[in-house]
Amino acid sequence: MHKTHTCGELRASHDGIEVTMAGWVNRRRDHGELIFIDLRDRFGLVQLVADPEISPEAHAALKPVRNEWVVKVVGVVRKRPVDMVNPDLSTGEIEVEVREVTILNPAKTPPFLINKEEEVDENVRLKYRYMDLRRPRMAANLKLRHKVVKFIRDYLDEQDFLEVETPILFKTTPEGARDYLVPSRVHPGMVYALPQSPQQLKQMLMVGGIERYFQIARCFRDEDQRGDRQPEFTQLDLEMSFVERDDVMGLLEDMYTKMVAEVVPDKKVLQTPWPRLTYTEALDRFGKDNPDIRYGLELVDLTDLAPGCGFGVFEGAVEKGGHVRGINAKGLGNYSRKQIDALTDYVKQFKAKGLAYIIRTPEGEMRSPIAKFFSEETLAMIQERMGAEDGDLLLFVADKAEIVYESLGRLRVHLAGELGLEDPDVLGFCWVIDFPFGFWDEEEQRWDPSHHLFTSPLPEDLHLLESDTAKVRGTQYDLVLNNNEVAGGSIRIHDQEVQAKVFKLIGLDEDVAAERFGHMLEAFQYGAPPHGGIASGIDRLVMILADEDNIREVIAFPKNQNARDVMADAPTLVEEAQLEALHIQLNLPEVEEEKDMLDLH
Ligand code: AMO
Ligand code: AMP
Repeated sequence: MHKTHTCGELRASHDGIEVTMAGWVNRRRDHGELIFIDLRDRFGLVQLVADPEISPEAHAALKPVRNEWVVKVVGVVRKRPVDMVNPDLSTGEIEVEVREVTILNPAKTPPFLINKEEEVDENVRLKYRYMDLRRPRMAANLKLRHKVVKFIRDYLDEQDFLEVETPILFKTTPEGARDYLVPSRVHPGMVYALPQSPQQLKQMLMVGGIERYFQIARCFRDEDQRGDRQPEFTQLDLEMSFVERDDVMGLLEDMYTKMVAEVVPDKKVLQTPWPRLTYTEALDRFGKDNPDIRYGLELVDLTDLAPGCGFGVFEGAVEKGGHVRGINAKGLGNYSRKQIDALTDYVKQFKAKGLAYIIRTPEGEMRSPIAKFFSEETLAMIQERMGAEDGDLLLFVADKAEIVYESLGRLRVHLAGELGLEDPDVLGFCWVIDFPFGFWDEEEQRWDPSHHLFTSPLPEDLHLLESDTAKVRGTQYDLVLNNNEVAGGSIRIHDQEVQAKVFKLIGLDEDVAAERFGHMLEAFQYGAPPHGGIASGIDRLVMILADEDNIREVIAFPKNQNARDVMADAPTLVEEAQLEALHIQLNLPEVEEEKDMLDLH
């Protein structure tokens, strides 16, 4: 070993001992005769002092040293005089008097400061990720991630789960995204698909009698990038046999409650047991199926007041089968016209045609472009239902239900941001259940499953599957945390007849179903146990626990927003010979190619 102690370890009790230390130069200060160096490793910082009176060689050796050089020193621990103690540093009571120095490696000038938090362009951070990882924020995030995964492994091990690896080179496993494909050399023209999740494989493990499976599984999805999505990401994937949905939800709830207490003890879980919302309730109250339950600002339904209310926009929307809903933005009654226009522009992004409002100024006046249309009685009813008081701002959207939910659901989160209602120390876990089994796709004239193809309808709705599909609820459960879906799962279909019916409803021809999923249908004929499971996005979970708002911050080597690895420069073009071996001829769109090549740099 190049070191006897880490840089975070030495205390006053080590006074007088000889130590060997190695790490990176975090900062170097020349104080006339003395040279001070803060030496850093993953465990902390320690102050080295080189005194030419004590060791002229060591002092001379440290003269040319710059930030991020890697050095090894032998020295003696000295207690600092009381007035020199640094209370901000775990090793602040001591310093190390250097006797010998070995320069292990010099370093080029870093592309950004490592020893100070500063805004750095993200692509620069990603290109030099190995430097970025030296910064305390990244090191802390990776450590937190490690602890979360370790807790999960230990917990599930205790509960008799087996960790089983499943193949990456596989067949399409649809979860709603596009597949990443890997062409086969030995089977010309054929491809493997990277799994969007281990869904089929874990179900096969249940048929295989494993009963309790989990995996920290890498999943691949070719979809548009967002702050909470990566093309490859990690799930805690688990599956259990002979269970009902309460069993799976109960297990996850117990595990994560204990994990939070151990790993982020300073955070508070908002409510236990975690509230369970039906899909309908989640939409009605929050406008979205991944709600943030840490604050109010709930949606209020005014649809029944619209007919004959006098305001054409409300009346018209409801006549066409739409809704009118509102939000009381408490305390924003002092908003200016300009600020309200900004909110209107915000909801227009989500297809709302406008944002009607009523202001109750703190002085008790009412300002509104729509109040004049209503009778006094209607106006009073609207305000009463919304709990309006002086100083409040009432906001309304009238439209098709989807647009009302989407625009007000987003607006609610936006307002919470403006009002500073998102307390990062509170974890608002909740379950969303009773999703519709599927949504009707008008264009394609088929049902689109709201979860995936293998989700079982609720047993009590099964008889309606073909006769009244719209009424059927699925067994799906989503776990939501502070505005993010952090897990989703369901009880599965284990009966091949029901599975075949579902394939038919979603418009999957028998031949196609047999070709894609024949192995599952066949397996179900050999005694498949009832089973269900869940998968939780580890990146998203850790992102929230780490108070980050982008999952790239908790992944060591993420792809950028264009799905590129900017450090290694991937994806890349490959040699003609490699393509030939794979029996591939390129047919590139010229403009796109040029654009992509520019994006590279
Ligand atoms: P689902 O598709 O809901 O379910 O995925 C489970 C969880 O994975 C996370 N997640 C992602 N995280 C980062 N980047 C992405 N692109 C991404 N996509 C999903 C989310 C999500 O809740 N096989 C089923 C699970 C099951 O039924 O057991 C599945 O994959 O946090
Ligand atoms: P207008 O009569 O179009 O000038 O609109 C009057 C007010 O109603 C403005 O504040 C608009 O932003 C708002 N508004 C227009 N369409 C809608 C709608 N579909 N839902 C809610 N408010 C709307």
